[in-house]
Amino acid sequence: MMISQKMNAKLSDQVAAEFYASHKYLAMSCAFDRMGLRILAQRFLKQADEERGHALKIVGFLRDVGGAVTLEAVDKPRADYGSVEEVVQAALDSELDITRRINELVTQAEGEKDYATRSFLQWFVDEQVEEVSTMTDLLNLVQLAGPNVLQVEAALRHQMLAAKD
Ligand SMILES: [Fe+2]
Ligand SMILES: [Fe+2]
Repeated sequence: MMISQKMNAKLSDQVAAEFYASHKYLAMSCAFDRMGLRILAQRFLKQADEERGHALKIVGFLRDVGGAVTLEAVDKPRADYGSVEEVVQAALDSELDITRRINELVTQAEGEKDYATRSFLQWFVDEQVEEVSTMTDLLNLVQLAGPNVLQVEAALRHQMLAAKD
């Protein structure tokens, strides 16, 4: 095994955290569906997929370094939200929490002079900058739109179409 038991345990915890993030995004997507907001629902469903991808990326790394993968039960995510803003704020809080966890993993890897894990984690460091930035933008958009949530849907639809060009 190329990494320490402690690093292995912490990376396993991160696998669980990414699956929990995926679960939360799926619950948020369902909440948007219930509000009749199809574009937001779609966007958050895609995000749920991405988080699952993050978990699998760590599983793959653990395999590569001869580590052991221990899967934990995933906590039940919050299902009820009072408003679009509440959902997006919760998503931003979740991304900030994940960012803090990634930073702790980096601190651990550097402390152990575990440069393989340190290098692997850089992708996650960069990813979190992107995620926090995107979710902050969405929160700003939601706050600007106020009660006109359909404007958020329209803006997101526009962004998605522009991204396809
Ligand atoms: Fe993630
Ligand atoms: Fe994320």
